[in-house]
Amino acid sequence: MRAIVYHGPGKKSWDEVPDPVLIDDTDAVVRVDAVTICGTDLHILKGDVPAVTPGRILGHEAVGTVESVGSGVKNVQVGDRVLVSCITACGACRYCRTGQYGQCLGGGGWILGHKIDGTQAEYVRVPFADTSTYPVPAGVTDEQILMLADILPTGYEVGVLNGHVQPGDVVAIVGAGPIGLSAIMGSRLYSPSHIIAIDLADTRLQAAKEFGADLVINNGREDAVEVVRAMTNGLGADVAIEAVGVPATFELATQLARPGGHIANIGVHGEPATLHLEELWIRNVTITTGLVDTFSTPTLLRLTEGHQIDADRFVTHHFGLDQFDEAYDVFARAAETGALKVVLTR
Ligand SMILES: NC(=O)c1ccc[n+]([C@@H]2O[C@H](COP(=O)([O-])OP(=O)(O)OC[C@H]3O[C@@H](n4cnc5c(N)ncnc54)[C@H](O)[C@@H]3O)[C@@H](O)[C@H]2O)c1
Ligand SMILES: [Zn+2]
Ligand SMILES: [Zn+2]
Repeated sequence: MRAIVYHGPGKKSWDEVPDPVLIDDTDAVVRVDAVTICGTDLHILKGDVPAVTPGRILGHEAVGTVESVGSGVKNVQVGDRVLVSCITACGACRYCRTGQYGQCLGGGGWILGHKIDGTQAEYVRVPFADTSTYPVPAGVTDEQILMLADILPTGYEVGVLNGHVQPGDVVAIVGAGPIGLSAIMGSRLYSPSHIIAIDLADTRLQAAKEFGADLVINNGREDAVEVVRAMTNGLGADVAIEAVGVPATFELATQLARPGGHIANIGVHGEPATLHLEELWIRNVTITTGLVDTFSTPTLLRLTEGHQIDADRFVTHHFGLDQFDEAYDVFARAAETGALKVVLTR
């Protein structure tokens, strides 16, 4: 089969590689029907994720058809259409027993395209198939469901739920990439009074408006803290969500939240960020961080099936599986190309 193989920082190619096979009896092999690229794959290609070693097949998001299953797989059958989640779950360890699959101790967690070969391929081996895949409901498209592999649960769990978004809240979201936009979509389920999106790229702010932001701020031109305080009687946002992953935006998020408010960090940080405890201690804020667990995937599947969330909106570009080079290029130049999510189908 063919797959996107990582060959060290800056290098990847669509190579001929051996087909994956069942290794453990709880594995499934899935034929990849639709796959996408994540911002995290770009981090890997920059060399920011050293756990990914040369020779690794990239990708942690897919929708596909089950090709074969091990003897220990009970619920997944050959021919089933499944979502392959970015998080794999053994289902039995201390963390899996409490729905914290991202922290799985039994060999799961974020492993696809990280510690084992991933989904940017014609076929993928999925460990713990019963607890790491989800049946695709009838009546929804592969590409809608593909958005549930990573971005939608991430924005919802690590942003909206960790941030405790409540009806009537003012929610300020720093970063309007796919993750920030997912946080907008997830926040709207709770009827906030205002959603404010903050980004440096006008293309992304335009997308934020289309996703339902009530106000957008280009923080390259405007002081976001001043604008948010002016519209909240000087208090600040009830919830500030960080969806970028650099020190400046974490510090901005902490300044945006009102006393007693929540600051939910989603961004993956590669360098230390300053926590201004000398200013924050008296403000009674709650700061959360997290890797997505994907415990919300069944909820998001029902919301997608019921048309309460419109996952199609994220998909800006379509490619064939053999057009990965073009797809990576368009996705990497998002500010110019307007790319949110690119989908490759067989
Ligand atoms: N916690 C998790 O489990 C998890 C899962 C997936 C992704 N992530 C992380 O979430 C973050 C966002 O992901 P994404 O795919 O949306 O990324 P992205 O790069 O597509 O979007 C980031 C946005 O931030 C904007 N930005 C950059 N610097 C800024 C600044 N100083 N002020 C305001 N805006 C700024 C960019 O213009 C861009 O629109 C990344 O760090 C990603 O690695 C975390
Ligand atoms: Zn991802
Ligand atoms: Zn586990």
